[in-house]
Amino acid sequence: MQYNIAVVKGDGIGPEIVTEAMKTLEVVGQKFGHTFSFQEVLAGGCSIDANGIPLTQETIDLCKAADSVLLGAVGGPKWDDVPSERRPEKALLGLRAALGLFVNLRPAQMHKALADACPIKQEIIGDGFDILVCRELIGDVYFGTHGRRQSEGGETGYDDMNYSVAEVERIGRRAFEMAMKRRKKVCSVDKANVLETSRVWRETMHRIKAEYPEVEYSDMYVDNCAMQLVRNPGQFDVIVTGNLFGDILSDEASMITGSIGMLPSASMNESGKGMYEPIHGSAPDIAGKGIANPIATILSCAMMLRYSFSLQREADAIETAVEKVLDSGYRTADIAAKDENALSTSEMGRLIREAL
Ligand code: IPM
Ligand code: MG
Repeated sequence: MQYNIAVVKGDGIGPEIVTEAMKTLEVVGQKFGHTFSFQEVLAGGCSIDANGIPLTQETIDLCKAADSVLLGAVGGPKWDDVPSERRPEKALLGLRAALGLFVNLRPAQMHKALADACPIKQEIIGDGFDILVCRELIGDVYFGTHGRRQSEGGETGYDDMNYSVAEVERIGRRAFEMAMKRRKKVCSVDKANVLETSRVWRETMHRIKAEYPEVEYSDMYVDNCAMQLVRNPGQFDVIVTGNLFGDILSDEASMITGSIGMLPSASMNESGKGMYEPIHGSAPDIAGKGIANPIATILSCAMMLRYSFSLQREADAIETAVEKVLDSGYRTADIAAKDENALSTSEMGRLIREAL
């Protein structure tokens, strides 16, 4: 089978890590008899440099036409001073909206081989944790009306936070479906003690939970959830929440694994088409040095194979190869102990391909 993948290498370390991920997919293709063809497109800072804007219609069209999108990272200090409507981040938000990617899955799992890097005390971690943050991605205050107006206090900024029942139903059902394939627990996170948006969210979640009687459901306020993630992360299975809370909580969840350079993510639309990218950013401080960890991007390819192409065995093969390389003690600089020899981006990529 042939799969056409649009590739946004992006900025900073993006090109280095995506190159390793593409090579990994090629090896998976050889091993399992698939062809992955890649079409590189520009988005983010590199698109500002080339076209004056972070996201062109051409890039949107090519991403829509592809079977899936692989993205490295966008942004960097070079573009910090461009006006807000032309910032590199706009490319991400624009692609999410244009492709209708309403669900963002961000797994936060502790790799046993990296338990030492976990910043939380062993007695709290216990047997570890395996959390799936299921973040709504194209609604909420991110996509409400933004603006400025004059008020008594002078210029005032505003951003409209809103969720419709239909938006909550669609992300909520997805979260329950994910939970059914895992440990059958959903924790819905909101701020229903203060926000009307959250009250609509909570009422809707309560209505649809009846469709999934096997799933153990709970609600949690977002401030409490931020605390519980460091107090007892093992209590969570699937966390479902809105765009803004999900942005914040998924960073926190990734940090407690101790290795943000390892975490992949998937953003999908109704038809299963997706954009796959590492959770970490473009890391401009180490860009071009060949020392970035490519594992998050490589594991994002595993998510692509599993969720967009239903290639379960192939996805497992990538994940097993990564585990094997880590179990053998190989590390890039971000996850190495101070006195350990760290591998380069390409050496890590090569070892994973060999393990495959
Ligand atoms: C993320 C990022 C983006 C977001 C930024 C870069 C726009 O923080 O993917 O979590 O806020 O969604
Ligand atoms: Mg974020």
